[in-house]
Amino acid sequence: MSSHPQRVTPPGADRDRISRELGHLASEYGNRFLLEPAPDHRLPQRGMHPGDAMRLIDQELVLDGIPDRNLATFVTTEMEPEAKRVIVENLHRNYIDHAEYPQTAEIEQRCIRILANLFHAPAETTGTRTQGSSEAIMLGALSLKWKWRERREAAGKDHTRPNLVFGGDVHVVWEKFCRYFDVEPRIIPLQPDKYTIGPEDVEPHIDENTIGVGAVLGTTFTGHADDIVGINEMLVAIKERQGLDVPLHVDAASGGFVWPFLYPHAEWDFRLEQVRSINVSGHKFGLVYPGIGWLVFREVSDLPEQLVFYENYLGQRDATFTLNFSTGSSMVLAQYYNFVRLGHDGYRYVMETMQLNARVLAAKIEAIGEFRIIGSDNDEQLPLVAFQLDGEHDYDEFDVASQLAAERGWMVPAYTLPANAEHVKVMRALVKLSLGHTLVTTLAADIAEACAVLATKGSLHPHDRKRVKTGTGY
Ligand SMILES: Cc1ncc(COP(=O)(O)O)c(C=O)c1O
Repeated sequence: MSSHPQRVTPPGADRDRISRELGHLASEYGNRFLLEPAPDHRLPQRGMHPGDAMRLIDQELVLDGIPDRNLATFVTTEMEPEAKRVIVENLHRNYIDHAEYPQTAEIEQRCIRILANLFHAPAETTGTRTQGSSEAIMLGALSLKWKWRERREAAGKDHTRPNLVFGGDVHVVWEKFCRYFDVEPRIIPLQPDKYTIGPEDVEPHIDENTIGVGAVLGTTFTGHADDIVGINEMLVAIKERQGLDVPLHVDAASGGFVWPFLYPHAEWDFRLEQVRSINVSGHKFGLVYPGIGWLVFREVSDLPEQLVFYENYLGQRDATFTLNFSTGSSMVLAQYYNFVRLGHDGYRYVMETMQLNARVLAAKIEAIGEFRIIGSDNDEQLPLVAFQLDGEHDYDEFDVASQLAAERGWMVPAYTLPANAEHVKVMRALVKLSLGHTLVTTLAADIAEACAVLATKGSLHPHDRKRVKTGTGY
């Protein structure tokens, strides 16, 4: 054994030296970020090469789910290469600069006219592009509030206690509107075995302070529609009986691009007398990437003039009716791309294909023998399968969702329904074009396998559950 003491290098210093050397080499052979934590709470002093910055982000995103396996979302996850090109080539075009980009503004107006025609507006009308259905519903409900106030003022009546009537089957944005804009929400509870609302549920909540009724075409929870025809008839009867004109806004976020193609004879739109405004998400079954929604009025006069703002600082006098101002043009142009690319026949083809595959999936899930399908082939419904466990099991829908995610990365959400059906657990799989027949078959087999595994090991402890999205997914 040597009598010379060994030179001990402190491990920390050694690490620093190696990292300095590697850092030096990285400029030639790799990326600096591989040896450094990603900047996460202050702007880094030194930046990095564009390729490195891109790879830093790409590397982290592998931890996200794969959008094609996200069967929770209603939102588009795939567009054609030509559509992507339109999107990428127009990212620099601010949609609100109407004076500078008049043709983009014209294309927006064409989209509104096309939708108004699809929804059977009786005459030339108006509407607006929005960020999604949430903004469209906020603007539509604001219009209801303003119109109601105008009517009350004209009659010399109190206008301090507005209320809005809708079912528990609506999206959270309806309650959000009521809170943000000081309107009393009159929410009709669901029933344990009835997940949409009809006229008999709505009527008792209506009075002279009701600014409007919100009805859903294609609910977030099970994909069914409220009884819009029945609600309209009830409102017409109230108008004739009491002289109380209560408008109906249809939340067609998902259904607005499904019903016209799958159920063209079903009346839910401006064919019904009390329907004054409709919202639809371009980024759901309009088949565009996230960031586009639409609000369409029955008549120009349904948009209160006071909600329209005029400015001239962009080069010409311009009218705006939006909650946002600057935003991209790409999704408006992508919506128009889909309109001209697909036409009526193309949309019908897409919707019917998704519906057929949803039916195949429903049949296969039912054949597993553990589940009950919510709804039937005869129902008018979005192309999705909503299902729940049937009978006694040692595991629940949340366990099946976790097992599916762990097994194959499928994101099929499990959730509970709103009051008074909050004890009802549901799973739901959206069947988009990216879920063709082969994947439908694989998914059904994976659900069967998940049940077989859970039957042997029982309910997973909550801590064992993979972090899966268990909300309804939008
Ligand atoms: C019925 C309904 N309304 C409104 C919304 C909100 O739409 P967006 O995400 O376009 O804002 C959703 C979203 O899923 C919905 O399903």
